[in-house]
Amino acid sequence: MAGHPLKIAVIGGGSSYTPELVEGFILRHEELPVEELVLVDVEEGKHKLEIVGALAQRMIEKAGKPIKVKLTLDRRSAIRGADFVLTQLRVGLLDARAKDEAIPLRHGYIGQETTGAGGFAKALRTIPVILDICRDIEELAPDAFLINFTNPAGIVTEAALKYSNVRTIGLCNLPIGTKKQIARLFEVEPDEVDLEWTGINHLNWVTRIAVRGRDVTDELLRRAAGARGLTMKNIPDLGWDADFLRSVGALPCSYHRYYYMKDEMLKKQLEDFRQNGTRAEVVKRVEAELFELYKDPNLAVKPPQLEQRGGAYYSEAAVNLIASIVRNRKDIQTVNVRNGGAIRCLPDDAAIEVNCVIDAAGAHPVPPSTPVSPQIRGLLQVVKAYEELTVEAAVHGDRDAALQALTIHPLVGSAEAARILLDELLEAHAAYLPQFK
Ligand code: G6P
Repeated sequence: MAGHPLKIAVIGGGSSYTPELVEGFILRHEELPVEELVLVDVEEGKHKLEIVGALAQRMIEKAGKPIKVKLTLDRRSAIRGADFVLTQLRVGLLDARAKDEAIPLRHGYIGQETTGAGGFAKALRTIPVILDICRDIEELAPDAFLINFTNPAGIVTEAALKYSNVRTIGLCNLPIGTKKQIARLFEVEPDEVDLEWTGINHLNWVTRIAVRGRDVTDELLRRAAGARGLTMKNIPDLGWDADFLRSVGALPCSYHRYYYMKDEMLKKQLEDFRQNGTRAEVVKRVEAELFELYKDPNLAVKPPQLEQRGGAYYSEAAVNLIASIVRNRKDIQTVNVRNGGAIRCLPDDAAIEVNCVIDAAGAHPVPPSTPVSPQIRGLLQVVKAYEELTVEAAVHGDRDAALQALTIHPLVGSAEAARILLDELLEAHAAYLPQFK
């Protein structure tokens, strides 16, 4: 692949995040010679696609890079012959996300885009669409890699790995974001920090950290206690308790706050819900502002306002990954792949998010060097079982699997709550859930 001009198709290309990706392809064009960038969207996203596409064009012209930008609503033509297909779509747009977040909250449960009942509903809507895209890739670009950012990224990736032959890698900005946060805490550069991750997307733990080659895991846990800034923009910055962190023996990811600090997080979510609406509604306001800026014909760079979104650095993660595949670099990056025995307490065919060696054939998980402790294993196995059931529910429209998935999820936790939430979510999203008809 190295040396040949690359075709990249971005599905959900009208996303407000696209300028971030375009910036990544511009900055790293020497090592990653993208020739054709095809931004694809659906009819409802056409207006946004045109605005973002025109901005992408201006950014590339200003930077003087020979990248051709194409805009299309024809997904199949975009996929045909692509080297990489990037999925960053949102089935049902932000209105559906608002429902995912609001419905659980109204019943007194955490309402979150990627985890709990909200993430579950998003998975049900998204998996059939991603599998449809996989069918197109199998037919039209069988050698392409699918790089999936679409949330819930771990569950969606697991579905693609189990139900297609596409070379799929799931990608999230959380590992790279955490590395930068820890580098700030230790006042060093991110490339001086090495993290070992154990877990799955949005539920992974840093089990070992080295700074300039020295193991500083215990020191990290001491420093991280109460520290600010160890979170993503979309998650409240609640500090970790010192005794708790020591007893976990690993640094939990930002999303663990929904589990380990459930009561506080729910209280905070309910306050925010009353004052500002759901996160989706906040994001809608940020997007409206962004799209006003994007329309300005004089704007030819990524505006700083995009940093208000939780997805910061996702382009860096994406470009790093694609460049290492293209250049067969064999470096280490943290991505979502098939377990294949790397974490022994999880099924082989589960998607996990751990350090992987990245080469021309894809991502190969490196088994974590530290054994999985019972406190990590317990939560990890439950949430992974929830994810497996969610994949089955989404693929087959299996209501029993759906009910069991929600019942065992730690942010729902009872059959009665699961039934109420399931009924309401299936009804609210019926237009996007033909598999349950
Ligand atoms: C985090 C997560 C992403 C998620 C994003 C949401 O960064 O890692 O998976 O998409 O936040 O941010 P938003 O601004 O849409 O709430």
